[in-house]
Amino acid sequence: MADGETGGKEAVKETRKGAGKGGALTRRGLLVGIGAAGGAGAMYAAMGALGLAPTGQDKEFTPPREGDFTLRGKASASVVILGAGVAGLTAAYELGKAGYDCTLLEARPKAGGRNLTLRGGDRVTELNGPAQDVTFGEGVYFNAGPGRIAPWMVTLDYCRELGVPIETFVNSNAAAYVHVNGKTMRARTARADMYGYVAELLAKATDTGALDRTLTRDDKERLLEFLRRFGDLGPRLDYTGSDRRGFAEWPAVGAGTPLDGPGTLRQVLAAGTGRAITNDFGFEQATPMFQPVGGMDAIVTALQKAVGTDRIKTGAKVTKITTMDDGVEVAYTGGVMKADYCIATLPPHILARIPHNLGPQVTSALAKPTPVAAGKIGLEYATRWWEREDRIYGGVTETDLDITHIWYPSHDYHAERGLLVGYYNTGPEAELYGALSPEDRRRRALTQGKKIHGEKYRQNVLSSASVAWHRQEHIEGGWVRWPAFDSSFTLLQRPAGRVYFAGDWLTHLIAWQAGAMESARAVVTKLHQRVLQSP
Ligand code: ALA
Repeated sequence: MADGETGGKEAVKETRKGAGKGGALTRRGLLVGIGAAGGAGAMYAAMGALGLAPTGQDKEFTPPREGDFTLRGKASASVVILGAGVAGLTAAYELGKAGYDCTLLEARPKAGGRNLTLRGGDRVTELNGPAQDVTFGEGVYFNAGPGRIAPWMVTLDYCRELGVPIETFVNSNAAAYVHVNGKTMRARTARADMYGYVAELLAKATDTGALDRTLTRDDKERLLEFLRRFGDLGPRLDYTGSDRRGFAEWPAVGAGTPLDGPGTLRQVLAAGTGRAITNDFGFEQATPMFQPVGGMDAIVTALQKAVGTDRIKTGAKVTKITTMDDGVEVAYTGGVMKADYCIATLPPHILARIPHNLGPQVTSALAKPTPVAAGKIGLEYATRWWEREDRIYGGVTETDLDITHIWYPSHDYHAERGLLVGYYNTGPEAELYGALSPEDRRRRALTQGKKIHGEKYRQNVLSSASVAWHRQEHIEGGWVRWPAFDSSFTLLQRPAGRVYFAGDWLTHLIAWQAGAMESARAVVTKLHQRVLQSP
């Protein structure tokens, strides 16, 4: 409240200042006035109307509305959506806002696709593998598919719109470990040493004139000023260690005991921590990230509810797609469905196997993207030793082992038990784990994790569950890789007759729910325009 009041007073003062010569209101003055009277929302709306609002953050999408039809005296169309994953559900949700009659055909026993959260009582089946009965305790869950959302992604807009509560996902944690070439150290130590020596090298090169052809005197001063901070360098531009590395005994009443080290430049380079300490630098991975409270599938649950569960036919495997002049016909296990349009959101390698009359170009385009294997294991422990003993609260340990990463939970801190992700790997490592029995995956993951955390990693494990996405029926991949975003990619972004395609695989956000959602929006927009323009 206090802030609001201050803001109000300031805004009123600004309004006065905003009056131009002769009392004419400037644009700025007008806006500030509107802000004072109607709050930030009103001001923002007015800025939008004047073309002044920043557009970068806006998601340009106007969903179909009921009025689009009633105002034109038209009827909405029927749409059969193949696949009730995030793309299919988003498409049905958006079309549903205008009253389209959508039906989703889902081959799997439940909706959600790769957005899969496992809890006690669930059963995971696998192609050519035994089923796993999940026995996690009450309240424990494992996001076996997507697990993190960047703030700029449309996924968060849907969480807001659908009332799905979110919480911070700790992606980057200086207290997590880096395990490379058989050595384990805290990420903070690895970063301090690498940044320190890189800064020292560049600072000395700058100081001794090696960069004089590139840098002016002022540039050099500014660069040195930055490098001293970046590397925590000493007065002679040396990196001799830093309290950024962490402590053997943390400061308290006493000054603490620094860690041994750092090693020499050569030793630090030989440690090979480069990939591990830059893994979260990417724009999709940059902290802060978010997760729905209670499990990623909260998004699926909310979308399903909004769409209407009665619109989703599960266990319905598509066997034939036919586009016709006046509609589409989709055959599936259980019947034949006719509709005005179809949106196919199945993975391309699955779609490619379904007989259709969409033409040879579509057939060859669908064959281009190749599935990428991906796997995860959830390990449930009786105690949260990573918090109590290792002081790791969320985040990711990066390794060069075949487990690739260990994720610590970003929720329910200090609870009695907890679950960490013991491997999240892709490509050959995922294939390797996928080929093992569930017991052997767990055994191997525990043996690897012990190299980082010691014997406690293998103790007090209550249960585990793993998913090899390339062995999941009707999905058969973690995601796909296009050899090039070429004419096949753009061809499938257009409809083939009355059949549209959607999914993360048709965006530059592959392997993100945001990709599925953006693709669904793009298709919904195109389809709706067509329906409105049709006679
Ligand atoms: N979206 C995937 C991840 O966060 C690639 O790891």
